[in-house]
Amino acid sequence: MPHNQRIIILNFGGQYCQLIARRVREAGVYCEVLPHDTPIETIRAAKPLGLILSGSPASVRRPDAPYADPALLNLGVPVLGICYGMQWIAHQLGGAIESHDAREYGRVSIRFYQNLCDLTEPMPSTASCWMSHTDLVTRAPEGFATLAYSDNCPVAAMADPSRKLYGVQFHPEVTHTERGRELINGFLYNICGASGDWSMETFIQQKLSELRSRIGAGRVLLGLSGGVDSAVTAALLSKAIGGQLTCVYVDHGLMRKDETEQVREAFEGHFDMRLIQADASDLFFSRLKGVVEPERKRKIIGAAFVGVFAAEAAKLGAIEFLAQGTTYPDVIESGQAAGAAVIKSHHNVGGLPDNIGFNGLIEPVRMLFKDEVRAVGEKLGLPESLVWRQPFPGPGLAIRCLGEVTRDKIDIVRASDAILREEIAKAGLARDIQQYLTVLTGVRSVGVMGDERTYENAIAIRAVTTDDFMTSDWARVPYDVLARISSRIVNEAPRVNRVVYDITTKPPASIEWE
Ligand code: XMP
Repeated sequence: MPHNQRIIILNFGGQYCQLIARRVREAGVYCEVLPHDTPIETIRAAKPLGLILSGSPASVRRPDAPYADPALLNLGVPVLGICYGMQWIAHQLGGAIESHDAREYGRVSIRFYQNLCDLTEPMPSTASCWMSHTDLVTRAPEGFATLAYSDNCPVAAMADPSRKLYGVQFHPEVTHTERGRELINGFLYNICGASGDWSMETFIQQKLSELRSRIGAGRVLLGLSGGVDSAVTAALLSKAIGGQLTCVYVDHGLMRKDETEQVREAFEGHFDMRLIQADASDLFFSRLKGVVEPERKRKIIGAAFVGVFAAEAAKLGAIEFLAQGTTYPDVIESGQAAGAAVIKSHHNVGGLPDNIGFNGLIEPVRMLFKDEVRAVGEKLGLPESLVWRQPFPGPGLAIRCLGEVTRDKIDIVRASDAILREEIAKAGLARDIQQYLTVLTGVRSVGVMGDERTYENAIAIRAVTTDDFMTSDWARVPYDVLARISSRIVNEAPRVNRVVYDITTKPPASIEWE
């Protein structure tokens, strides 16, 4: 992408690194997250407007601490170190770092010296800021002014404006930090001289011309999942190359109510492309027969999906490019996640076969965060139901049906899910709750209906609020909304006589039950 202006964020492994990147983008400035050990030549060649060094759980005082090339402090571009990033700067330049007895975590009151430096200019004399650290800088390096302090932290912010080097011990990217956004914006606009040239309009224009010149007269194949990432990828490609795009949507029979039709309606007649919907539900249900173990279900669905997709692709003859709706969090995470524990094997269109044989991979939204992908989708005219669709797992309702997956059981999950979604929308809560779903728990229990004793299924409702789906809290859905949902589910969904509400956070529970 030929952006004139960019900020580079070096990732030392801190939990808030992505959040820093999102704040910079929200401020209208393009940024990229690179590994902390990115060679200095690469950084220089990118001509960054400024550098931000992220936090890290590590200690700069240990020999195995994540490092960066100290030459980046002499590039002449502004550098802002956040938490570990500041400690790393101090360590490189001869400041003193010590370990704190106790970890300082949470909101801390910080006092700012006034009128000392552009960086802390937006901060009031006392501000509540988010801290999360064990080590701290006890003496700033020579040439640096101390800009702020707290009861436990003698140097909570520091700067050497003549060398354009800045550091904050607190986390301005976290919303709990008072005026944190202003501090970041000030760094970008006043110190780095950003003009704010990152917008979705320019992204779309640049991306369309880039796609056209890369693809030429070639053909492109894309798997549509019904989710926003692949939908926006399809919309961009359709605008760029029209009928050279073929989209394959595999209907595994595990989708939510009306979803398959919605995908067709969104694209047919609105976007120039060839759309193939492959109804493969018989195959999926027959392969899932008798299988109860969650990971096996996922593997079977993943393999069947790839098989159907590959078979459809083979019918099309030679296709030069495969497209995917990869987004920036996937890119950042896959850069670091090596060795991370596999909690659940994820099945996405992304895990596609090497053996289909494409010349190239096209990932038009690879550098975008989810909110940016949505903004692009809106600008390209995709319907709101698709653009604001909540996340839905690749294996679909199968992982919300505990035990063996059958058509009858999926019908129960689908009917209860549709009721839940309708009622959440009617209550105006759809944008406040990031994910909500129903689960066929596999538990049957005794009830009464009319004068009859029943022995039927228990449905669980799961509704969560979350920023990143890595952690979540259960949504405080009002009781009267829950009451309506419960009464409609027992009355309208087949064979349900009990509804329960899941009140567990993640961790320890995951969002899906499986
Ligand atoms: P868990 O259940 O691990 O889910 O807390 C976290 C988020 O990931 C979604 N999820 C998936 N998304 N393919 C996906 O694209 C999958 O295989 C998959 N499994 C879980 C889940 O819905 C939640 O949003």
